[in-house]
Amino acid sequence: MPSYCILGRIKLRYTINEIINKYVSDNLKDIDFTRNDILVITSSVLNTKKDKLLLDLNTRILEQNEIDSITNNLNKYYFEKIPLQYITGKQNFFNEEYVVNENVLIPRQDSEILVEEAIKYINNENLNTMLDMCTGSGALGISIANNSNIAKVTLSDISLNALDVAKENIKLNNVKKDIKVVCSNLFENLGNNKYDIIVSNPPYIKSGDIKDLDEYVKKEPIIALDGGVSGTYFYNAILKEAKRHLNSNGLVIFEIGYDELEALKSIISKYNEYRYIKCVKDLANNDRVVVIRYSGN
Ligand SMILES: C[S@@+](CC[C@H](N)C(=O)[O-])C[C@H]1O[C@@H](n2cnc3c(N)ncnc32)[C@H](O)[C@@H]1O
Repeated sequence: MPSYCILGRIKLRYTINEIINKYVSDNLKDIDFTRNDILVITSSVLNTKKDKLLLDLNTRILEQNEIDSITNNLNKYYFEKIPLQYITGKQNFFNEEYVVNENVLIPRQDSEILVEEAIKYINNENLNTMLDMCTGSGALGISIANNSNIAKVTLSDISLNALDVAKENIKLNNVKKDIKVVCSNLFENLGNNKYDIIVSNPPYIKSGDIKDLDEYVKKEPIIALDGGVSGTYFYNAILKEAKRHLNSNGLVIFEIGYDELEALKSIISKYNEYRYIKCVKDLANNDRVVVIRYSGN
């Protein structure tokens, strides 16, 4: 256990509620344990859904190994700054639950906007084939597959470890569509395949900003974060090649950083084959999702 961990071993028998109250009220300097954080960790340790746990708060006596495990996980979360989702191994996203680990970015609520937008276009325009490039955990592609009329989906990523997680998530979410997983550096291993729609949430943080990120975010894979010097490396690289992989009138939908819309518009304007359609804002009113039409053939 690292020397800065200050939660020691508890040796008494506690109910769930007592352990929560103990940690919430414990007089630990600068630590703000919330009931919810402890509930999430406890439900993961006991492998019980949170709503079921709430019914057992005052009756279920915790075993010593369960208390130790809760304490260890709280230490990881608060002192080692490991994201809660890596500790529980799960993240809810859109209508699905996803397995996550340190090999994938934790899917963010903001990305649900991209999923909603893609579903609208797929259903309105009867689109059949989709590529989710830079798929990570597979969250975007799998949620779109499960909630739209898309028929055929490819999930691609450069990281084999991330794709193992994506495969697990395809099974976990019982995807009924024709779905495959391809390890590829951008389009390198995608042959001559063409798609009606390409969605992507590529790495988009400026390399120089990585060192200033929140400690929890820094635990996510650098390969999922680093978008090059200007943050926009991947938008240009993807658009440059996407022309060869889009069916006529196809679409590209990107997630972008809050300050990247103008840079992306200027990249789009370099190519005659693409037309900027719109930008959708996130809940905090930041530019977040950009829709681009391919007007070549
Ligand atoms: C920001 S994460 C997005 C993950 C997921 N789509 C999501 O929204 O939660 C970016 C992903 O791009 C992948 N990636 C980085 N460079 C790549 C490349 N050259 N080719 C393909 N994928 C790449 C990373 O492995 C990572 O999984």
